[in-house]
Amino acid sequence: MMSQFPVKKKKKQRLRLPSPPAPLAHPVRFPKVVLCLVEKRMGATRKAFLTTLARQRGFLVEDANSDRVTHVVSEGNSGDEVVEWLLKKGSRGIDVLGGCPVLLNTSWFTESMSAGRPAEIEPRHRLQVAAHAETLEARCQVPVYACQRRTLLAHRNQTLTEVLQTMAEEAHFCGSEARSLAFSRAASVLKSLPWTVRRVQELRSLPCIGEHSRRIIQEVLEDGASAEVERVKHSERYQAMKVFTKIFGVGVKTASRWYQEGLRTLADLQAHRAKLSKEQEVGLLHYDDLNTPVERSDAEAISQVVRDAVRQCLPGASVTLAGGFRRGKQTGHDVDLLLTHPTEGQEVGLLKKVISWLDKQGFLLYHSSRRNTFQALEDPELGSNSSASTMDHFERCLSIFCLHFPGGVQIGAGAQKPGGAVTGSGVSSFWKAVRVDLVVTPFSQFPFALLGWTGSKNFERDLRRYSKHEKKMALSNHALYHLEQAFSTACEMSPAGTVVLCLQENIFDRCL
Ligand code: UTP
Ligand code: MN
Repeated sequence: MMSQFPVKKKKKQRLRLPSPPAPLAHPVRFPKVVLCLVEKRMGATRKAFLTTLARQRGFLVEDANSDRVTHVVSEGNSGDEVVEWLLKKGSRGIDVLGGCPVLLNTSWFTESMSAGRPAEIEPRHRLQVAAHAETLEARCQVPVYACQRRTLLAHRNQTLTEVLQTMAEEAHFCGSEARSLAFSRAASVLKSLPWTVRRVQELRSLPCIGEHSRRIIQEVLEDGASAEVERVKHSERYQAMKVFTKIFGVGVKTASRWYQEGLRTLADLQAHRAKLSKEQEVGLLHYDDLNTPVERSDAEAISQVVRDAVRQCLPGASVTLAGGFRRGKQTGHDVDLLLTHPTEGQEVGLLKKVISWLDKQGFLLYHSSRRNTFQALEDPELGSNSSASTMDHFERCLSIFCLHFPGGVQIGAGAQKPGGAVTGSGVSSFWKAVRVDLVVTPFSQFPFALLGWTGSKNFERDLRRYSKHEKKMALSNHALYHLEQAFSTACEMSPAGTVVLCLQENIFDRCL
């Protein structure tokens, strides 16, 4: 029946999540060993039998697309065939050259089952893999747009992406946005690879790796470091620009000007207080806190405070945590919260009330609001003409929250500074300054706003480019328009997902 509806079948496959591990009927005795049995040549029945056997012995058995698999067991396949099978099954965690996961024949499995514990791995158990990373790379076909790539939070090319990001930052400090973007795109591609790059030849068929990036990668792979990157990192200008741009309210322009004027450190700035705007003064005052990573628990606590405020001001309105935390990150540089109400129009005036409530309760160290400047939704150009920009027109408040840790619990930088105070009840409490963005959206635009504010920046930028160049559609944080046919996409209750589906299949649907 399904075969008569190939399109539907395709969609269903695409949206299917990895199946959860089977219920644990037997206690797990070896939590660090996660088996995957290769069905190819083994057959479904024998696989099911061996799976049950392994579980009875206290082993974990999961599907090929699980990132936790450590041992892959195959019967009658070559190492290369197993790698190919794993890739086809959506396994992303293969690092063949790094031996992870380890590919084994059934002799290891049989010995482990009879011993009742994982057998020592010997060379005779291992499957030989002739395919090099280059071949793997050719099979992987990394897509050009970041929104079509799956990127894990913990990836396999940390050293390389760090140096490329330093170069991207340096280019940004010089005002060379195109160069910055080129480095940032190269880093983004490396983040999505299911293997660790060890030789420059492995980059051959990857998109977005320019000549300069390739040169730097080669230096790092061959010498352990790149002379150019080291030079940048130790340059006086890069170091001063880094210190200055980490101040809340300071961009590249201001930081550059200060550098031109001979300023180099925060102490230099402090001696020139007159040069600071109110925002920057506060930024400097809370410099250490604002550059301490915000923990997920901090983000949850702040979301809850804002939820309480919103409940007081407009019952029925919702607060959604977006940004990196919505992508599953454990830390971030700020907290991004979207506010809306299911009745269009009800959200007008909400932000003012919420800020006033938070301020009265002593939660705000600083805030600055901007009104909604989105007027002509009928004009498709307005919300989306600059395809790469993430600027939007929502009513918004940039704030610095005072996050309290009651009961003297010592968490984060707040614990060490004079912010430690004694409350009315005599219980000492500590606090920490945290950057919080509050964004208010009309309900009809909420799905687009949520998609746009979830990030990452590379993902968003490429989603816009993909819409424009591949779909002839203009996507912004407010709407999705067809550029040639006169229609826009209305979204009802399905936040984010609806937008992705409008753009169709190839988008990686982690926003759903
Ligand atoms: P952030 O800069 O907060 O990034 O913007 P992040 O991914 O959450 O990173 P950390 O974890 O805080 O360091 C969140 C998303 O909001 C979008 C950005 O494109 C980004 O993807 N954004 C930001 C907008 O759409 N409009 C803006 O005006 C600002
Ligand atoms: Mn954020």
